Amino acid sequence: MANEVEVMVTGGTGLIGRWLLAELTRTRTVAAIVRNAAARGAELRAFVDRHGGDARRLVVVEGDVEAPGLGLKEELEGVRDVFHLAARFAFGLSAEDARRANVGGTLEAARWALARPGLRRFVHLGGYRMLAPSVALDHAAYPMPEPARARLYRERGGYEASKHESFLALRHLAATHRLPMTGVHPSGVIGDARTGETTQLTGLGELVAQLFEGKLAALPGSDRTFVPVVTVDYLARFLASVPERAETEGQDLCVLDPSTPNLHALVARIAQHLHVRAPRLVVPVGLLRALPRAISGVDPESLSFLSEERYDTRAADAHAAAIGLKHAPIETSLARWSEHLVSTRFLTEPAADRGALRDGVYSARRG
Ligand SMILES: NC(=O)c1ccc[n+]([C@@H]2O[C@H](COP(=O)([O-])OP(=O)(O)OC[C@H]3O[C@@H](n4cnc5c(N)ncnc54)[C@H](OP(=O)(O)O)[C@@H]3O)[C@@H](O)[C@H]2O)c1
Repeated sequence: MANEVEVMVTGGTGLIGRWLLAELTRTRTVAAIVRNAAARGAELRAFVDRHGGDARRLVVVEGDVEAPGLGLKEELEGVRDVFHLAARFAFGLSAEDARRANVGGTLEAARWALARPGLRRFVHLGGYRMLAPSVALDHAAYPMPEPARARLYRERGGYEASKHESFLALRHLAATHRLPMTGVHPSGVIGDARTGETTQLTGLGELVAQLFEGKLAALPGSDRTFVPVVTVDYLARFLASVPERAETEGQDLCVLDPSTPNLHALVARIAQHLHVRAPRLVVPVGLLRALPRAISGVDPESLSFLSEERYDTRAADAHAAAIGLKHAPIETSLARWSEHLVSTRFLTEPAADRGALRDGVYSARRG
């Protein structure tokens, strides 16, 4: 089947990657580049089948984006579309670790894509903050002068800084080597709109855990703080169709649900849904920045997300409209997601009691 593969996905074991594999294998033959593939293939195939995809169209291939040539033995010459999702997504990474995976891995994947004779599109997952009005991304400034790069990593932390550096590095490579690419920049990704299912706590999920456990002493930011979200199933459908539309080549698409309530209102709604009390105290970002982490309880790397900025989603909205994709009602999506987090004890236990619902929903969709 390796000869028939027309799509390659890195990061297929991650949150977004899993749902993307399920979406893509409905119609296309896909290779997922995975570390320790032999041990993980069965679980990934079962996930794809359970989530409306067809694991018969999935090849799980050993590879590592930090290795030369992605560490691949297979040629996969027929690949037309490459979705690069693999990244170290965590706070507290060292600059070296973050750069190796997120900058080096992105360039390695892009070079691999460039060597495919029939390449149609390289789709790269960035992040919505790359497109924030305040974030000046000077395309001419790559390679970054060393002092500027050191400052970026010091100020933003390994994850955010490496996402910024990879954004610049990739556009530099795309311009010099004529790489047909699209940047897709999601906001915080929450669980599937129908079931709430997710595999990830990083970011807002941790806030919900603190809220539920009575450990959230104060609301961070102001009543205008906007931390937008998007459901993982919406994002997967959006992503899968990006290479199908020529208009998306060269675009940077900011994917978020614009009806996400401002952060304080979002916390209040989840608190109401989970029957817990939302804190009344508000701590502005400036104060959080000044407080030691032990007192604030907030990871310093998460502070750049506590912004009042709004984002230009017009290009992404045009793509969604062209493929007939709509966001599910945000209230329901937030409710399902927070229920899933609670019912799995914040992803430490399987949500066995939701199995029937989940299977019902997906088998209905597959039909
Ligand atoms: N989730 C969000 O809210 C969000 C928002 C904006 C942007 N993004 C971006 O979207 C992309 C996917 O995010 P995600 O949420 O799906 O992340 P995730 O759940 O943390 O998954 C990361 C994936 O990358 C893989 N990976 C890491 N290092 C690798 C390596 N050296 N070689 C091969 N695979 C490697 C992981 O494989 P293992 O299973 O082997 O560790 C995993 O499959 C990332 O670029 C992230 O920055 C995510």
